[in-house]
Amino acid sequence: GQAGYRAWLAYHPRMDSAASKEESLRYAWIASDDRDDTVRAAITEIVEGIGTMYGAAPRISATATDAAGENGPRDSEPNAAYGAGPGILVGTFAANERLRDIFGVEVAELGREGFAIRAKDGVTAIGAHTPVGALYGAFHLLRLLATGIDESELEIVERPANKLRMINQWDNIDGSIERGYAGSSIFYKDDEIDFDPARIRDYARLLASTGINAIAINNVNAHRLESRFVTGDYLPRIAELAAIFRVYGIRLLLSINFAAPIEVGGLPTADPLDADVKRWWRERAADIYAAIPDFGGFLVKADSENRPGPFTYGRGHAEGANMLAEALEAHGGLVVWRCFVYNCKQDWRDRKTDRARAAYDHFLPLDGAFRDNVVLQIKNGPMDFQVREPVSPLLGAMERTNQVVEFQITQEYTGQQRHLCYLVPQWKTVLDFETRALGEASPVKRVVDGSVHGRALGGFAAVSNIGADTNWTGHPLAQSNLYGYGRLAWNPELSAEAIAEEWALQTFGSNRQVADAVVDMLMDSLDIYESYTAPLGVGWMVNPNHHYGPNVDGYEYDKWGTYHFADRDGVGVDRTVLSGTGYAGQYMGANAGTYESFAECPDELLLFFHHVPYGHRLKSGLTVIQHIYDTHFDGALRAAGLAERWASLEGLVPADDYDEALARFREQAEHAKEWRDRINTYFYRKSGVPDERGRTIY
Ligand code: GCU
Repeated sequence: GQAGYRAWLAYHPRMDSAASKEESLRYAWIASDDRDDTVRAAITEIVEGIGTMYGAAPRISATATDAAGENGPRDSEPNAAYGAGPGILVGTFAANERLRDIFGVEVAELGREGFAIRAKDGVTAIGAHTPVGALYGAFHLLRLLATGIDESELEIVERPANKLRMINQWDNIDGSIERGYAGSSIFYKDDEIDFDPARIRDYARLLASTGINAIAINNVNAHRLESRFVTGDYLPRIAELAAIFRVYGIRLLLSINFAAPIEVGGLPTADPLDADVKRWWRERAADIYAAIPDFGGFLVKADSENRPGPFTYGRGHAEGANMLAEALEAHGGLVVWRCFVYNCKQDWRDRKTDRARAAYDHFLPLDGAFRDNVVLQIKNGPMDFQVREPVSPLLGAMERTNQVVEFQITQEYTGQQRHLCYLVPQWKTVLDFETRALGEASPVKRVVDGSVHGRALGGFAAVSNIGADTNWTGHPLAQSNLYGYGRLAWNPELSAEAIAEEWALQTFGSNRQVADAVVDMLMDSLDIYESYTAPLGVGWMVNPNHHYGPNVDGYEYDKWGTYHFADRDGVGVDRTVLSGTGYAGQYMGANAGTYESFAECPDELLLFFHHVPYGHRLKSGLTVIQHIYDTHFDGALRAAGLAERWASLEGLVPADDYDEALARFREQAEHAKEWRDRINTYFYRKSGVPDERGRTIY
């Protein structure tokens, strides 16, 4: 079956037929004086979208001027439906005199990617300064229609909060995807770049419809063949991909191997200060831009988890990043340099070394040292995409450095798309976190959009969750995370619930019963997942390597384990300045004191910051041990409840989606029980404290 392939661009027929009739009349024609591929894509999307939603597609008029005529489009046969009726104008102000007339002087504030929509007197006008702005406006109109907003008067002005709205594919040329849970790659197969252009175009449509404008198409761990992507061996095929994404306003980036001058270029060194190394990268940049004039730049994982980097040559991150930035600068390219740098060989007896401190310790001293076309990409938390972590203290701490926040859409530690875990509420918590960089008005969302420190560049990056599965994400409801990520990158003020509702209505159609049930399930899911997995912010209780399923000591008792320090007396990692690793002191202003203090530290992060006795009382009034038992019993029950709630939608959602999701909900319910039992028995046997409510603990 094909269910799920069209995702949130399904354009379901409107159920309300009266409205539908009226709407299709409102959109009898569509016209533009733009002739480029992007505006054409906008027109195609509107024609198809309105056509399937209302059962009658707008007729494409040759030019906006024709459409303006008293009798409607002149190049059509006289026809009641296309007569002097209402229609849609779409395009750029520069090319469309009618749009300039309609919007007048208010258009300046739209910027390069914004758009305005005005519906009045029968004409729905979508205007922008650029073709891609018009495309975003077209997708916005379709979203409004699909979610049931069908006003005859509309007045909308939108522009993205963030300049960079990027997706990272962790795809490998062998067709595998690192941390991919939805099949193999849509970009590569059997050590070749091998793709179906129609599928890539559909991916580009999905991404552009949410506002994504950049994509790094290969894994940050760039292996042997991928290291050659910057050469003529692969550039022709990569240019074909770039051409597809270009139509949808998405710039292509490549993840590079810092040691490529050696491994690919045959040089004796990759030292960023070496003249031959610099020349080698300049030549690669020239070759790339000859093939891809709007190439976005390089994404770099260096000196991290055994990847090569400038440290080998006694150089720092700034020297490494700046060398690459210099090579790209003349062409308008960026270096996106990841801050996921830590010592992965930490001895548990050493209570001062702390992986959580690493990004801040490495990068803060470099503030101001990076060139203007370098952006640091900082994971949302200091560890690694756990279900609960504090916000990275590096976000906002650097005043003279461009930064993007990195999220993980793929659910590596959050159920691997076998469990339902709608991550938008987690990302909202991060974005709304008050960093105190400038007193009380510097939440993360204002740091990364550049406004707190007056940075020209900033935004979002995230690891994609799609693969070759027909429905893109394996779990049909995991599509909501990709959708939600794009929407938040465009506008971080949107609520998690509003995004869930938009997604559900577009994906499953205008049946309220379905949308309400799906929204409720999505909104409950993160809390449910957190309840039956690692408690109170401590994280890491997963099976090593593949990271699925419970294993309390899997990492703790490997060679380098320093994750929860559970013993017979208590649990948690002391990260205070007073007696621990000092990590709490990396926060600005009052935040440092809040985390330092037992009494003030929020319950949900207690074990991240403090090692406490099992009998320690939380703000909730429960002891830590009783909290662990209660949340695990409750979480497993609520996971079972998700399966029942989904089952109530049988016949109301497409059968393929229904079956795919039901199988996963059943697996989730089983695995939640396993989590419950393993975590509970572990802590019962460590602490010897029984459950106050006498439930079964093995
Ligand atoms: C995690 C993940 C790795 C990935 C790394 C990264 O550690 O497990 O697969 O390579 O993050 O972000 O670079």
